[in-house]
Formats: sequence, C-alpha cells, structure tokens
Amino acid sequence: MRIGILISGRGSNMTAILQAIKNGRIRAEPAVVISSRADAKGLDTAKEFGVSTEVVKPEDYDGRESFDREVMARLIRHGVTADDLVCLAGFMRIIGPEFVSRYRGHILNIHPSLLPEFPGLHAQRQAIEAGAKKSGCTVHFVDEGVDTPNIIRQTEVDIAGGDTEETLSEKILPLEHDTYVLAVQDVVEGRVIYENGRVIRR
Ligand code: GRF
Repeated sequence: MRIGILISGRGSNMTAILQAIKNGRIRAEPAVVISSRADAKGLDTAKEFGVSTEVVKPEDYDGRESFDREVMARLIRHGVTADDLVCLAGFMRIIGPEFVSRYRGHILNIHPSLLPEFPGLHAQRQAIEAGAKKSGCTVHFVDEGVDTPNIIRQTEVDIAGGDTEETLSEKILPLEHDTYVLAVQDVVEGRVIYENGRVIRR
C-alpha cells in the first residue's frame, strides 16, 4: 500500500506516520506529501525523510473542485490510487464529494476531540468552553460530512480545571501521534475497513 499525506502546516502527525513507516511499524510506502501551503514546515521534514513533496495552493485554482482534481492528479502521479491510502494530517481544506467518492474508504483524518463531540475548527477551545471533563482525539474515515465520526480509533484525556486551549492542545498532540500510527496500522493491515458507509472491524 502506498500512502499520500496531505498537510498545511507543522506536520507533526505526518512526521509520526513517516517515522513509523521508517522503523517498520507501518508496512507501507511513503509516496508523497502534498501541502496546501508553500511555507508549511512539514515540507522540510518530509524532505529530510527523503519523501517526495508537492505544493498545491488553493489560491491558484478557481474553486474546490479544480483544487481537489489537482491534488488527485498529484496523488496519481506518485502512484497513490483509490486502493491506497490518503492521510489528512492538519490539512486545512475540506475534501469535496468527487475526491471522497474516488478514494472512499481510503481517506483518513485526525481530529483533536472525541468525535462526534466538537467537530470543526478550534476543537480544543470548544471543549474548554463547553466545560467538558474529557476530550482527546479521533482518527476517522473521511466521508462527505465534516469530521463525521466513522471512528477507527480514539484516545481520551482528562481536562483539568486550569486547562486552557493551549495546554489542552499540548496534552492531546502526543496522543494524536500514537493514535494516528495505530489507526494507519489497523487500515494497512486490513483490521478495519469502511464499507457501505460503516466502519467494520475484523
Ligand atoms: C492537529 O491538532 C490535528 O488534529 C488537527 O490539526 C493539527 C495539525 O497538527 N487536524 P500537525 O500539523 O499534524 O502538527
């Protein structure tokens, strides 16, 4: 299986996946890292791992459909087909229906909350403002919705009284890295699949 990783910034989840591929925990080929921003720090890290990189900037395309088509074209150029895996890792774009249907069941995302709670932006801030006692992270299969809970794995963390958006984010981030690696292993090794709109474990 070949893996394409889509990022927009820091790329710490991408790094966790590339590291796990390098040390043999994830048995897959790192095909390409595609960033929606030319200045994403993750691009430098991907190069350090010797992984091909591409930049596809939304502002160069007139709308989501043509942007998505270019991203898919770059994935295909690097051999990431609909039977492979696309990992969204801090990718600040919503994937459109054409992309989702082409790669259905083969697109993963990480979200910093226990979905279905707190979907969308600033999930950690939402959890603090709601007075939640627990939060965490979720790795899920992407469908046409935003952060739909087609859950592969979740990890919980307690929220302390003094936690802020920043401290909670710092607590959740290392859990994201571990959870994403385990979820990619689940999918690469065929233990978890997405079929007919449902997550199936075998
Ligand atoms: C992570 O918190 C992820 O859950 C969210 O965006 C952040 C990306 O961080 N979707 P990084 O680029 O992987 O370091």
